[in-house]
Amino acid sequence: MELIHTVDWMNQVARQARTDGAIVGLVPTMGALHDGHLSLVRAARDECSSVVVSVFVNPKQFGPTEDFDRYPRTLDADRAALEPLGVGHLFAPPVEEMYPSDFSSAVLVEGLSERLEGRSRPGHFRGVTTVVLKLFEIVQPSYAYFGRKDAQQARIIRQMTRDLNLDTQIVVCPIVREPDGLALSSRNSYLQGPERAAATVLHRSLAAVRERIERGERRADVLADEMRAILSAEPLSAIDYAEIVDADTFEPAMRVHGSCLAVMAVFIGSTRLIDNMLIEERDGRITCTL
Ligand code: PAF
Repeated sequence: MELIHTVDWMNQVARQARTDGAIVGLVPTMGALHDGHLSLVRAARDECSSVVVSVFVNPKQFGPTEDFDRYPRTLDADRAALEPLGVGHLFAPPVEEMYPSDFSSAVLVEGLSERLEGRSRPGHFRGVTTVVLKLFEIVQPSYAYFGRKDAQQARIIRQMTRDLNLDTQIVVCPIVREPDGLALSSRNSYLQGPERAAATVLHRSLAAVRERIERGERRADVLADEMRAILSAEPLSAIDYAEIVDADTFEPAMRVHGSCLAVMAVFIGSTRLIDNMLIEERDGRITCTL
């Protein structure tokens, strides 16, 4: 695996791979890799002949009071985790490579970027789409892999690729969870002492919604109330949002119908975690995927 720090070299290597007929898969990450990221890498390796993983803690997607400085940076461990997985290139540019001092452009997917996560974290998705478009331009991947834990991010990136006619297919991979249901996240490392057990409340509240749906409940407000009641009963938690939304528009749903998501952002102590469950109606049957 080659470690690349410069945009120019990454771009040259990627162009050569494409010229040689390789199918290039990109897994964009901010590092601190866990099994969720590695599942994306495995999916890329199964479908592509050349895999690039990027590790870049993107300052543009963090708000002024968020955890940019504190975000875990573990490049040596990330490299060791990727080495056995058949990754061709690890692209880890410094901030000045991606954003020279005169950098002044941005990409914004309007509407979708302002809801839910976007409402709580103004400017977050603008930072995400800006860096992801840059990564797509640098690496020119045929496929790019994202996790469903960040369901709104994946939806917005898909919209961006469609709107801008980008030649990259977006692949969204399942959420990877700990045995007790906690969705894997680099931010789980912030959880202290009893917060780790408390953090299972996100999964528990989604599982309770699934149970209500399986018993026939279809009213979104009833399901969202159930989710919030379970989240509120956990003393270490504070809800940012917990809603049932349409999986395409991210607008609140009235009833579960078509494709919906139960989505949430919850503080456990000072750590903000997100999670979701996909609720899909097919042939009159509803399937809930945690
Ligand atoms: O999901 C992430 O880790 C980041 O938002 C991404 C897609 C790598 C962009 O910085």
